[in-house]
Amino acid sequence: MTRNIKPATAIQGRISLPGDKSISHRYGMLAGLTEGISTIRNYSTGADCASTLACMRALGVPIARDGNLVVIDGVGLTGLRPPSRPLDAGNSGSTIRMLSGILAGQSFTSEIGGDKSLSQRPMKRIMTPLEQMGARIEARDGNFPPLKIHGGELRPIHYELPVASAQVKTAVLFAGLFASGWTVVREPLPTRDHSEIALGEFGAYVEVEGTEIRIEGGPTLQGQELTVPGDISSAAFFIAAALLLTGSELVIEGLGLNPSRASILDLLRGMGADIEILDRREDHGETVGDILIHGPESAEHPSLQGGVIEGAMTAAVIDEIPILAVLGAASADGLIIRDAAELRVKETDRIATVADNLSRMGVEVEVEPDGLRIPGRQSFRPAQLDSFGDHRIAMAFAVAGLCAAGESELNNAEAAAVSFPEFYDLLEEITRS
Ligand code: S3P
Repeated sequence: MTRNIKPATAIQGRISLPGDKSISHRYGMLAGLTEGISTIRNYSTGADCASTLACMRALGVPIARDGNLVVIDGVGLTGLRPPSRPLDAGNSGSTIRMLSGILAGQSFTSEIGGDKSLSQRPMKRIMTPLEQMGARIEARDGNFPPLKIHGGELRPIHYELPVASAQVKTAVLFAGLFASGWTVVREPLPTRDHSEIALGEFGAYVEVEGTEIRIEGGPTLQGQELTVPGDISSAAFFIAAALLLTGSELVIEGLGLNPSRASILDLLRGMGADIEILDRREDHGETVGDILIHGPESAEHPSLQGGVIEGAMTAAVIDEIPILAVLGAASADGLIIRDAAELRVKETDRIATVADNLSRMGVEVEVEPDGLRIPGRQSFRPAQLDSFGDHRIAMAFAVAGLCAAGESELNNAEAAAVSFPEFYDLLEEITRS
């Protein structure tokens, strides 16, 4: 689907967002392994999180869904049944990687695969620890989906993650539920800690000490009543739009502000953005709050100075890099992004797809093997843009299109639905032309 993106003058409104994708996946999977019923409100409406529920259903978990309300009747830690067909993770790396940890602990063999993009994403990173724990996993060329997972009795391991990846950490922790004794994971840099929090909330024994996470196998997990906070990675597109357009004022309510995810706000504030946190509260271990964003007062004074994103900060804002790159082009001093080689193995090679779309808009950009250099104070030309089937590229360039001097076209715009089906409607609602 091609969408026309018209230039806008400002962003104005008060919105709340669908549930966080990362948290929804974890609640969806863990609720299936509990004793009793879980009620999950504001479950992510994206296709990725629907893939997780479809897989759990195929494994014998009764799940009822009404919009963003999901009710899961847990089958207990040992109650999953062999699926009658290969499991379909769709476009979702989180589903295949995290669920593999659970499948590794089953007494049956299962197959899991997904779409063309997912079939090109590396899985060796989860296969290595899960095989050390005792599962046997077959993959195309030893690295790519579909995976055939021969589950079995697992032994606990001490695993040092070679890449900073919350998905890999989660796969090992979820497998640790099925191993007898303590499984230990150490991460090179902090990554999102929703799994540690959710496991604790459902009743698992989890200990966290610095960068080391320990989980004891064999707990009895209990059903919970949960509300998923608004997705901060989805919010990033609206925050950016407000920071790009003069005179904008936007409130986002009920937003997930878990410190391992909210670095985007610290980063933007550090670069000069006017973002206020109005309220901060805790809900089932997750931080939630409302935020207020003000755009620049005049076009001559951009919201952001710009700067360098590298090291731990790159890992902390990895999903927000496409929209940060757009912001970088409009910043006063430009943006340098380093240590972001992981972007090359996301839903698309995001270094390439960001650079391609920026170039189409007449924005100067230098591509490095692990990042981008984007000079500041650039303007966006209307252009033929393309998501290349990647949700975050679709949304980042829909926002860039708002700042162009004329109408742009965004090809494959429907990709946004992977995480945020309501994106264009909500954007239209808060956009002033
Ligand atoms: C996610 C972790 C990140 C992120 C992805 C979701 C998660 O991936 O990019 O969108 O929910 O754990 P990696 O773990 O591969 O870094």
